[in-house]
Amino acid sequence: MPEKIPKDIKQEIEKLVRELNYHSYRYYVLDSPVISDEEYDQLYHRLKELEEQYNYILPDSPTQRIGAPPLDKFEKVKHTEPMLSLDNAFSYDKVKEFEKRVKRFLGSEEAIEYTVEPKYDGLAIELTYRDGLLFRASTRGDGYEGEDVTQNIRTIKSMPLKIEEVSKVPAEIDIRGEVYMDIEEFEALNREREQKGEPLFANPRNAAAGSVRQLDSSITAARKLHLACYGIGTVKGIEFKSQLEFFKWLEKARFPIPAIVKPAKGIDEVIHFIREIEENRGILPFETDGAVIKVNDFGLQRLLGVKTREPRWATAYKFPAHQGTTRIKDIIPSVGRTGVITPIAVLEPVRIGGVTVSRSTLHNWDEIERKDIRVGDTVVVERAGDVIPHVVMVIKEKRTGKEKTFRIPEKCPVCGSKVVREENEVAVRCVGLNCPAQVQEKIRHFTSRGAMDIEGLGEKNVELLYSSGLISHFVDMYRLKKEDLLKLPRFAEKSARNLIDAIEKSKHTTLSRFLYALGILHVGEYASKLLAKNFEKIEDLYKINTEGIINIRQMGEKIAGSVSDFFNDPENLSTLKTLKTLGLKITNPDYEGKGTGKEKKPLESLTFVITGTLPQPRNEVEELIENLGGHASSLVSKSTDYLVLGENPGSKLQKAQTLKVKTIFYNELLKIIEQRKIV
Ligand code: IVH
Repeated sequence: MPEKIPKDIKQEIEKLVRELNYHSYRYYVLDSPVISDEEYDQLYHRLKELEEQYNYILPDSPTQRIGAPPLDKFEKVKHTEPMLSLDNAFSYDKVKEFEKRVKRFLGSEEAIEYTVEPKYDGLAIELTYRDGLLFRASTRGDGYEGEDVTQNIRTIKSMPLKIEEVSKVPAEIDIRGEVYMDIEEFEALNREREQKGEPLFANPRNAAAGSVRQLDSSITAARKLHLACYGIGTVKGIEFKSQLEFFKWLEKARFPIPAIVKPAKGIDEVIHFIREIEENRGILPFETDGAVIKVNDFGLQRLLGVKTREPRWATAYKFPAHQGTTRIKDIIPSVGRTGVITPIAVLEPVRIGGVTVSRSTLHNWDEIERKDIRVGDTVVVERAGDVIPHVVMVIKEKRTGKEKTFRIPEKCPVCGSKVVREENEVAVRCVGLNCPAQVQEKIRHFTSRGAMDIEGLGEKNVELLYSSGLISHFVDMYRLKKEDLLKLPRFAEKSARNLIDAIEKSKHTTLSRFLYALGILHVGEYASKLLAKNFEKIEDLYKINTEGIINIRQMGEKIAGSVSDFFNDPENLSTLKTLKTLGLKITNPDYEGKGTGKEKKPLESLTFVITGTLPQPRNEVEELIENLGGHASSLVSKSTDYLVLGENPGSKLQKAQTLKVKTIFYNELLKIIEQRKIV
């Protein structure tokens, strides 16, 4: 039997739920957390413990977000107001026609106010709240009837379980929005699936839809889904005048809204903002296939009404496609810096989103097999942002029978060495130590922007220097002389001078850049930075064993093993020494270890807890503490350094006294900051 709940426990639970929900909102909606993950976890565990002990669980408790037992099937849900679709406009002229229709229908000559938002490429859902609590979440389905996916949608951290912070909580409201997956998340998920041999999702939309339509909600919980709310269905007990007013309300009530919402007066401003969204398309973290234009005023929306299944008050401008259809002329193997041989599809050139595409990566040989890609196949190719285009799928209906399957090469296409495929690895490697393709790729990597950053040493020049015999290893670059370059066809006095200067300049570098430049297996820019933070000089890594590296937080076993292998190889060590004798000077501004003499932040390693009312809003004080390197926590524990006392302090004061935690007033906190700044 659960114990009877003492009043203060009840209050503590309520406070914890409120605090945790606030911190979730800071983290998932505003992307600006004010406490650390550890502190969040601490509060969460305290809440869980109390909930279990007293069996008192609030409906908006964050513990209610994790998956529930799997379902047999989804229940059907009728939407009280149909979820409409949108008319499409494929050109600016069509957008102008939309405006003309609106004006004609309203019999108005005046400029109309619109909103312009990105069109999210995800899954439309409806969230029904009753008396401020999430009652149900349903998919759009056919617009009239969808499926009950409440359990799954609950796991989306940015979605409020309760409507708070608004002056008026409606008795009932249907909030509509899009569940989507960030492009980065989608790619990570596909990489993971690829490793497990599971089928890949074709795009973020399919990944989001597949994640929501899971009978087992713990799968949904494991996928990082986002939400953008943009629409309204049935609403009782509150009235909104316009789309913009509704967005303001949503924001106040802590709902995530589209990343861009632009009010526009007249169609020219609308087109201006559509252009702006389109231009920024590549840098947005999510996939967007267009812009949605809505008449702002809800009164006008009602007047305009609905035409069959589409509202007359909105339209979607569709960006030019990022996909195209073409034929694979050939598949060629390409050898990378680590010897990995990747298949590349040579395509009949096709225009996709304004760019001519004639090559596409096929990632690896498993993918060719899984997608059954053959030379001669007609395929759908997709280009997203600046990444290399890839083959989405084969249109098998277009096969003539003349298509040829492609086999993994048995020999390296460049040096003829043996090709191996390690167990459990999708990668196929050329074992040739001196394989020209590998060597050139290594040099290219060494000189690249994030590495030694040698300007003017592009792909063509590396090839030229290599084939002319001037360099056969990146070390040789530091032996180059202007006279050598002048003998080559592409160089004249000035270009030769520039390159020699750039090489000279690159000799002064940082440890993190240098480590990255070395091209150690699995060590990318991030791992290089981590190593530089933890090792002062490159010599500190010589002959290091795996244990010496794995202790670094966030450093994986695979990377540690590879770094250790690299620095235990006599040949590598001698290369490093040669580079030093050739004048390489490595500094390490990233080092964070002992004795750096680096100025510490004033509140570094101090934990503060606040109780009572301070002269400044609490979250601002907490932010100040965090910004100065301290921790602002909500729980008093033995590791708390100071409890900051405001007016009417709460039970934390007692706890602090029992634990002998120092208590200070607000002005003393300010003094501590000042004193520590001087030191
Ligand atoms: S408004 C009647 N706003 O596009 C109004 N829809 O083709 C319809 N969508 O089913 C919704 N981003 O899934 C609206 N900012 C946005 C949107 C958006 C994506 C989707 C939504 C809808 C589909 C209509």
